[in-house]
Amino acid sequence: MPSQEAIVPAGITATIRGGNTEAQTRCLKPLVNSGSLDKFNHADLTPVIGREFTGVQVVDFLGADQQLIDDLAITISERGVVVFRAQDITPQQMKELAERITQAGGAPESSGLHIHPLTEAGSELGDQISVISSEKQKKGGGLTHQLSDVSRFASAGWHSDITFEPVSSDYAMLKIHTLPASGGDTLWASGYEIYDRLSPAMQTFLEGLTATHDARFFLDEAERLGNPLRDGIRGSPLNFGSKLQAEHPVIRTNPVTGWKSVFVNKGFTTRLNGVTKDESDLLLGYLFNIVTQNHDAQVRVKWNKNDLAIWDNRSNWHCATYDYEAARAGDRVCSLGEAPYLDLNSKSRREALSL
Ligand code: SIN
Repeated sequence: MPSQEAIVPAGITATIRGGNTEAQTRCLKPLVNSGSLDKFNHADLTPVIGREFTGVQVVDFLGADQQLIDDLAITISERGVVVFRAQDITPQQMKELAERITQAGGAPESSGLHIHPLTEAGSELGDQISVISSEKQKKGGGLTHQLSDVSRFASAGWHSDITFEPVSSDYAMLKIHTLPASGGDTLWASGYEIYDRLSPAMQTFLEGLTATHDARFFLDEAERLGNPLRDGIRGSPLNFGSKLQAEHPVIRTNPVTGWKSVFVNKGFTTRLNGVTKDESDLLLGYLFNIVTQNHDAQVRVKWNKNDLAIWDNRSNWHCATYDYEAARAGDRVCSLGEAPYLDLNSKSRREALSL
């Protein structure tokens, strides 16, 4: 793995905040999109977030020019979420694709595919596939509890994946193969755009803070399910045990784009550090609201059978819509990137794109 000096040129080390040196990005600078995907039929879903491809099988990229995979990683990081309609890709091929995308995005060598702490050992599809299933959820095996006794707000489900791990996720992909006749959409929101909506004074203040992310509720969940918690290595030597807590910068740089993003989420972030509990509650409440109440920073994807979505967890949140009774199921793979860090010299998306 490259040394800290190799990544941060002499003299600017002081501009990096956070980021465990054992899990650093291999991106020395933001990656440049060559445009090799432009030949495929595509459309942006909103000005801020989301791109959809039709008439292309992403599995074919596995045997093609590496440039396609490189540009795919960059496009996902730039657009937040990319949707490929009607895909033939199998769960095993999804794992291969996830490995190729995370490598193209500069993940450290020590980062692999994540094993969720609640994944049952010996599952048919392997440890690195999380099965998203409404039927399992009904039996109490779900990962999210919306419209439950805990909350009556559908927006309670907004999160980015597995931020309770010291080395959290760069990319995740979900293929939905079983669908209700209507409903069951997924929403994503852009952390780049939310950073851009903060005042300069608030941006600077939050850049000095870290937050605690906590998923100890999974301990109760594991006990209730009767499955032992996966407390071995979960995709990175830094992710193990039953602590299920991590501290990360509140504003994070995405190494692929070089853009800053807000990096706290309703699902896992419990505390801003270095301020009082009252201040933390107030500020986190504000940050969660600015995500859920700005529908022009969001995109809503209506799934068709076998659609595949791939998103960047470093700079986006997502939330499923539990508005259906019939079965909904799919397979999810989640890769690990670098330990989150902030490069104070990095730019906001609007600044970088001169918007
Ligand atoms: C997830 O939260 O990763 C799954 C989203 C969904 O089921 O739509």
